[in-house]
Amino acid sequence: MPAFRIEGYVIVSADGNLADERHVMPETLKFEGDKQFFTAALDRADLIVHGRHSHEGQPNSPRRKRIVVTRHVADVAADPSTTNATLWNPAKATFETACDLAGVHKGTIAIIGGPDVFDMFMDRYDTFWLSQAANVTLPGGEPVFSGVPKQTPQQILSRHGLKPGPSLVLDAENGVTVTPWQRTPQTS
Ligand SMILES: NC(=O)c1ccc[n+]([C@@H]2O[C@H](COP(=O)([O-])OP(=O)(O)OC[C@H]3O[C@@H](n4cnc5c(N)ncnc54)[C@H](OP(=O)(O)O)[C@@H]3O)[C@@H](O)[C@H]2O)c1
Repeated sequence: MPAFRIEGYVIVSADGNLADERHVMPETLKFEGDKQFFTAALDRADLIVHGRHSHEGQPNSPRRKRIVVTRHVADVAADPSTTNATLWNPAKATFETACDLAGVHKGTIAIIGGPDVFDMFMDRYDTFWLSQAANVTLPGGEPVFSGVPKQTPQQILSRHGLKPGPSLVLDAENGVTVTPWQRTPQTS
């Protein structure tokens, strides 16, 4: 059994963007139902992983162990400025080395973006939780994965071996749903 269960979390617009053209997640993409879903997932996770601009900024954040992806360390290092954070340069050290320094050797890892970080784990997700706001578009915005908008996020997840489970409604009035994209276990 693999030691880690790897899960991705994001909310995207109808056109597959996670932020606007200024690389900022706009208020129009924030919904209470999705926030509650995301917060509960992060509280359950043993470790969260994100790029330097994707800190979730929540009241529970200091309690959560995290790996921050950056080119500004030689390989891995404890983050002197943030509680419970490990800095990781993926070109210089393996993910497992960063997890070792973070003191996490098993359990659930939540990958929370941005796009480069999502791409990095594309072939390792057990489940990718794709939230989508059907009534929001962000023209010229920041695509969730490389390959969007040529392909939809769903087509990209599918190309990487993930299959959709039943969607949950997070906000009926605003058309916000979340769909678990799951990897089917290999049979040998
Ligand atoms: N809608 C959502 O659910 C959602 C989810 C996540 C993020 N967002 C939003 O989307 C925007 C994402 O910002 P962003 O595109 O700047 O992404 P980001 O991944 O959070 O931050 C980019 C930074 O991460 C580091 N990084 C990324 N890839 C790396 C790699 N391969 N190797 C080493 N370091 C790497 C670099 O840090 P250094 O400069 O330190 O080297 C880079 O400048 C933010 O506004 C965020 O709030 C939205």
